[in-house]
Amino acid sequence: MKTLLAIRSSMFSDGGQSNGLANRFVSAWRASNPEGEVIVRDLARDPVPHLDAARFGAFLAKPEERTPAQRAVVGYSDALIAELQRADAIVLGMPMYNFGVPSTLKAYFDHVARAGVTFRYTDKGPVGMLSGKRVFVVAARGGRYAGTSRDTQTAYLRDFLGFLGLDDIEFVYAEGLALNEAAKAQGIARAHADIDRLTEPELIAG
Ligand SMILES: Cc1cc2nc3c(=O)[nH]c(=O)nc-3n(C[C@H](O)[C@H](O)[C@H](O)COP(=O)(O)O)c2cc1C
Repeated sequence: MKTLLAIRSSMFSDGGQSNGLANRFVSAWRASNPEGEVIVRDLARDPVPHLDAARFGAFLAKPEERTPAQRAVVGYSDALIAELQRADAIVLGMPMYNFGVPSTLKAYFDHVARAGVTFRYTDKGPVGMLSGKRVFVVAARGGRYAGTSRDTQTAYLRDFLGFLGLDDIEFVYAEGLALNEAAKAQGIARAHADIDRLTEPELIAG
């Protein structure tokens, strides 16, 4: 049985454009994987706390020396990581907020980057431990940045996810959503076409 992890990071939950587009991906994936399992991680509905010194200290503490509070912190991070490990494919709905990724997504990333769990250091440098999964990022933006130096999100995601071993990434862009109605319709239509192309049954059926 195949598993798809859908990570939603729009602050608007079901009203978010990126979530609507991610839902289109999920529907197509379900149609091609009727026995498959979909896990939804909604970062607006269930926000991940900011990483602070106490939480990071819990990650670093030796397992046998962790306090009950530290064990709870690590258990929470472990549960987020288990979803990633279980997934065969990941779809990430990602808005642009103030020229970056949503802070909720950054907080999530800070809880799934764990030395010895999702990456490890070797003589040849860091090695990601979440390999063998495809990642589909659906990026929603008010303006148009794809292919320019102002698109900080694409490079950041490639760097971060690649660090964890997730280097098979497809990006779908829905851009110009705040420019005017025609631009918005064009941006959504283009994203729909890209999602439909990426979810052809022969490409995603388990
Ligand atoms: C707080 C906030 C900040 C935003 N900042 C940007 C931005 O820096 N660049 C941009 O192109 N669009 C920006 N937008 C527009 C969003 O990217 C656009 O509305 C997108 O559809 C949001 O995705 P969502 O509907 O999935 O949340 C911003 C929107 C909000 C609410």
